[in-house]
Amino acid sequence: MSIANRAGKAVLPVSSGAFPTGGVIKNKTIYICQSCGAGAPRWLGKCPECGGWNTFLEEKARPAGREARRGAEPSCRPQAITSVETAPEARLLTGLAELDRTLGNGMVPGAAVLVGGDPGIGKSTLLLQAMGRFASSGHTVLYVSGEESLRQIRMRAERTGALPEGLMVYAETDLERILDAVKSTRPGAIVIDSIQTVHTDALDSSPGSVSQVRECAHRLITYAKESDAPLFLIGHVTKEGTLAGPKVLEHMVDTVLYFEGERGHPFRILRTVKNRYGSVMEIGVFEMRETGLAEVSNPSELFLAERPKDASGSAVTSSLEGTRTVLVEVQSLVCPTIFGMPRRTVVGVDYNKVMLLAAVLEKKAGIRLTNHDIFIKVAGGIRLDEPAIDLGVLASIASNFLDKPVDARTVIFGEVGLAGEVRAVNQAEPRVKEAHKIGFKRCIMPKDNLKTVRPADGMTLEGVRTVAEAMERFF
Ligand code: TYD
Ligand code: MG
Repeated sequence: MSIANRAGKAVLPVSSGAFPTGGVIKNKTIYICQSCGAGAPRWLGKCPECGGWNTFLEEKARPAGREARRGAEPSCRPQAITSVETAPEARLLTGLAELDRTLGNGMVPGAAVLVGGDPGIGKSTLLLQAMGRFASSGHTVLYVSGEESLRQIRMRAERTGALPEGLMVYAETDLERILDAVKSTRPGAIVIDSIQTVHTDALDSSPGSVSQVRECAHRLITYAKESDAPLFLIGHVTKEGTLAGPKVLEHMVDTVLYFEGERGHPFRILRTVKNRYGSVMEIGVFEMRETGLAEVSNPSELFLAERPKDASGSAVTSSLEGTRTVLVEVQSLVCPTIFGMPRRTVVGVDYNKVMLLAAVLEKKAGIRLTNHDIFIKVAGGIRLDEPAIDLGVLASIASNFLDKPVDARTVIFGEVGLAGEVRAVNQAEPRVKEAHKIGFKRCIMPKDNLKTVRPADGMTLEGVRTVAEAMERFF
């Protein structure tokens, strides 16, 4: 891809993250998109790469004789894939089981992990607690903070009980000094809180700009790979929900985790967005308390804790999150539209999925939703993104519309097709097991899944093939 000038002639190759190298543009000003890292020789209102408006910022091109290359290993030779040695990766457990699971069963030596999330969500708390546990099992950890003073970190550590000897803290933002400290302490794990505050004198641009963030991250990651210490980079998220500036960082690191949660809710969900060493479907669930983050090992109980009994519009469905199934409550409110256009407001599930299910309900079950507003919410602030929740969402809408509650001890799952058919889902057995464990008595599920599921004690399994059939069993 290249940026063309007005005459349509290519003026500079643009590739996410790549600076034009060599001495040609030495000390020249270059404009960098702060959102995706694309470069251009002049200011542009709209980024041709990511489509962002007003994202270009003036930066100095990297001087020749680049600092970044210093200390890089001489590249190895090409070799036959069969001659590449494979040793099973050693994993280091942080001791915080919910974090270890999202990382793909522990930290991988030398791996770089980016932890993103809104300000105040608990990123610093999470890593301080995790590193506190890791250090108390005999490792040295270097926690570098560019945002808080040592006193503030100490107070937080006291509050959360993370005070082992091996946890070293360092309030610094200068990359060279940080690297010196890392080299002298040789820690078993490194945390940089946050990568946007770190800067190097080798570049003229201001801290937090794309080139600074990229350069600093690159050098830290290179060090981590050489020294086999796992590296955690904390990154801020912008209003739009993307990692501010260092979107380019997502390509450089091995694992990207997002820490999310609703304001005012104590629950926090750690979600894997990218993982070179494990599944990306995994979630870790925490509860923010007075004494820091508490792990929630059984999220189903938590998501169902405040469920209203026998209220119409409430249905429990099952969602597969990585290696775990969680039971969640979907709530709907369906009321007549006052002004012409019906409103559909959805929190926690995909908007288009709801549109689709409403249309299926209308056509296949004769429920006239045309002149009704639909509001849907998933309790507990979790976001569901799985086909198996379809039937549960549908039951919830129908229940509120008809004002008939769904039996409180019934779990409903299955994928719904446009012809009104209920399709089989994967991992039906763990879903039934989880429901049984929590004390549910009945599952309404796809008929095709019945043969693969062993019945559990005191649990009725009811298979359905169509939405019409399911409607008869919901209430
Ligand atoms: P913090 O880790 O500073 O967030 P981030 O690094 O993502 O910006 O978390 C700050 C919030 O967490 C703050 O609003 C207070 C709350 N908190 C607790 O409720 N209990 C605790 O024990 C701690 C340490 C923080
Ligand atoms: Mg913080």
